[in-house]
Amino acid sequence: MTTEIKEQTGPSIESQIDSEETVSIRVEDLIVGRRINHPIYDAHGVLLLAADSVVNSRFKQLLRDRKMPQVEIHNEDAASVSLGSDTMLDASSQGIFSTELTAKLDRLIESGSMFVANTGPAVRDSMVMHGCKAYDPAQREKLFEQQKQFGESLDGMMRGALTGKPPSGADITGMAASYLTQLTSDADSVISAAVEAGKDESLSQHCLQMSLLGMAIGTELNLDENNVRNIGLCGLVHDWGMVRVQEKIGRGRRQLSPLERMEMQKHPIFSLEMLENVAGIPSVVPVVCYQVHEQPNGLGYPRQRSHKMIHLFARILNVAHSYVSLTSSREDRPALMPYAAMEYLLRLTNDKTIDQGPMRALLNLLSLFPIGSIVILTDGSAARVIRRNKDFYTGPIVQLIQTADGKNVDPLDPDSIIDLNVSDLEIDQALPTPGKDEIDLSSDLFDGQI
Ligand SMILES: [Fe+2]
Repeated sequence: MTTEIKEQTGPSIESQIDSEETVSIRVEDLIVGRRINHPIYDAHGVLLLAADSVVNSRFKQLLRDRKMPQVEIHNEDAASVSLGSDTMLDASSQGIFSTELTAKLDRLIESGSMFVANTGPAVRDSMVMHGCKAYDPAQREKLFEQQKQFGESLDGMMRGALTGKPPSGADITGMAASYLTQLTSDADSVISAAVEAGKDESLSQHCLQMSLLGMAIGTELNLDENNVRNIGLCGLVHDWGMVRVQEKIGRGRRQLSPLERMEMQKHPIFSLEMLENVAGIPSVVPVVCYQVHEQPNGLGYPRQRSHKMIHLFARILNVAHSYVSLTSSREDRPALMPYAAMEYLLRLTNDKTIDQGPMRALLNLLSLFPIGSIVILTDGSAARVIRRNKDFYTGPIVQLIQTADGKNVDPLDPDSIIDLNVSDLEIDQALPTPGKDEIDLSSDLFDGQI
């Protein structure tokens, strides 16, 4: 049997390519020489490989030429044509995509009723901008304390939702509302505190970071208070399903086998199931949690939706997730430097892996040298980026930490704050965060995976 890519479609292609019986497998994971019993189609219903064909290297190369990083494979073929069949996981959850719950959401998404409109003034209009000013130390201490408390509360809520004692929607909304108030008073300080507090990389801290960054992107996109708070709420709960996944495959902070990846990709649906029992959350929340890992190019999960079929809040949180994930370390690679993460994400907007609008908002928000970055200036001194500078991505506001001859700078000295927009100094290079083993894009350890 020869392997051919045929430009032909069958009568029930739509149902086959959107089938509940297929899973996404990375092209690189396909094993040459294995036979498939079911046909493989692309996202447009074009037959890629007929039933009863053998996967060969020419077929894999043709998929690469078509810039297809993954293909939909029938469940019955998945374990035999991809690596990792020895790690077969609990088969009882394989049919999860056919649940009534996801079918209901799919119908809602397909009805196109996901339009986002403001009913009040944009939050951005009421945000306090601080210009060339250091963070308020007292407020900062309060922020770190609150971040810790919120993390503990969120851990408790996740455990409760898992064991049949779910929190109330009001508790979670209260948390998002509190974040929104702080964000309005000093967004730069809150974002930098969130980035620093997130260093412990627990699931709850990841959710808190996503919530804050997502809300900040929402404000940049001129959304009103209700919408921004809902984004924050979605960020807080979107990954609860990971608790169930982690019971099976651990924290997943490493390269996963194809079957482990399939299991991990169910977490948005597990989150939905846990949220079903939380009373009083807005109806938009389950839709967004279900879609956070979809990509505008149709290569995300769990349903491979493309741009117009993905809720704006999910596209916003996907950008936040990508940034947080790249700047976090995994077991098999250190974190990317914030500057490198930003550069990489800008590249990913070209092939629509991430959405351009929210990405531009993130750039506005953090600048090209993101808040918290350590940089060397053209006079040789070292500084930390503390605030963005509107529309001046390469020249944020920085605080000197060390002079060119190695002397530490007093953080209370008002002259230590420099607005690079009106200074002769420029950023010469970005450095890894002290104490963190960060890498840049040229490192062999960086595999491009978000
Ligand atoms: Fe997630």
